Amino acid sequence: AKVFGKTVFLRADLNVPLSETRSIADDTRLAAVLPTIDFLLKNEAKVIVASHLGRPVGIDKSLSLEPVAHWFSIKYKVSSIKYENREEFDGWKIGANIFLLENLRFYEGEEKNDPEFSKKLASLANIYVNDAFAMCHRNHASIVGITHYLPHFAGFHLEKEIENLGRAIDNPKRPLVVVIGGKKIETKLPLVEKMHKIADYVLVGGKIAEESQMFLKVRHKKTIGRKSVLLVADLTPDGTCITEKSLHNFLDIIAVAKTVIWNGSMGFIGEKEDKFQATRKIAEEIIKSQAYTVVGGGDTIEFLNRIKLLD
Ligand code: 3PG
Repeated sequence: AKVFGKTVFLRADLNVPLSETRSIADDTRLAAVLPTIDFLLKNEAKVIVASHLGRPVGIDKSLSLEPVAHWFSIKYKVSSIKYENREEFDGWKIGANIFLLENLRFYEGEEKNDPEFSKKLASLANIYVNDAFAMCHRNHASIVGITHYLPHFAGFHLEKEIENLGRAIDNPKRPLVVVIGGKKIETKLPLVEKMHKIADYVLVGGKIAEESQMFLKVRHKKTIGRKSVLLVADLTPDGTCITEKSLHNFLDIIAVAKTVIWNGSMGFIGEKEDKFQATRKIAEEIIKSQAYTVVGGGDTIEFLNRIKLLD
C-alpha cells in the first residue's frame, strides 16, 4: 500500500501480561509490532495504534493501556500526552506521528462488531493494517467490521506468524505434535478438534484438560481420522497441574517429534511453578528434540522468556 502521508489505523495485539503493580511483565507483543510501526513512520505515515487489554467489562482503569503508552514513549524517546474525556477516543499522542487509542474493549461496540463503531474507528484513518495475529479469530469491530470501510492490509508481524505457522501446519515434518494447555477453553476446544485432524499427536494439559475431558468424552487415548492420537492429561487432585504420569507420557511423545506447535501451560507458572514443573519440562524436552517449534500464547511466552528458554 502507498502509505506516504496517509493515516494508518494499526490494529496490534498489545494484550500484554501485567504484574500486580500494573507494570508490563513481558513486552514480546509490543516489540513484535515495532517493524510495522517503523516502516510506517519511515514512509511518513501517521500511525494510530489500537488494541484491547484483558477482558474489561466497561471502563476499568486497571486495564488502561497507559503502561503501554509509557513503554512506547520510552522506546521512541519521546514524550506522550494523554487525551481524555473528549468527544473522540481517549488515548495518548506519542511523539509527533504515533497515537495510541485507549483499550478498545472500554467501548461496547468493539466486541459486538457494531457497524457504527466500526465506521467510527475507520473514520480516523485512510488505511487499515492488521498486525494482531492473536486476535484474528475474534469477530470484533477493530478486526472485522473496520475492514468494510477501509482498504486493508496485513502487517509484517501477522505475515511472519502466518508464514511460520504455515510451515508447521501445511507440510510439516512428522511426527507433528500439538501441545495445548492453559485456560480459555472456548477458544481452545475448536483448536484441539482442528489439530486432531492434522497432527499425529494432540496433547491436552493445563486447566483445559479438565474441561476437555467432558467435552471430548475421551480419556487417554482415542484414534480417529488420520492416525492422530489425542491424549488428555489427568490433573493432580489440587488441579494445579497435570500428573507426573501424564507428564511423562507427553515427554516420551515430544522426544520423537519433528514439528511441535505449542500453546498454553501445563500447570501453574506464576511466581511459583507447579510441583512437577511440567511446563518447564515440556519446554526442555522440545528443545532437546530439535523439532521445528512454534509457540504461542501470552502467558506461555512470558514464562519461557522468564526462564530464558525462548528463541
Ligand atoms: C490473547 O491474548 O489470546 C489475545 O490477545 C486475545 O485475547 P482474548 O482471548 O481476550 O480475545
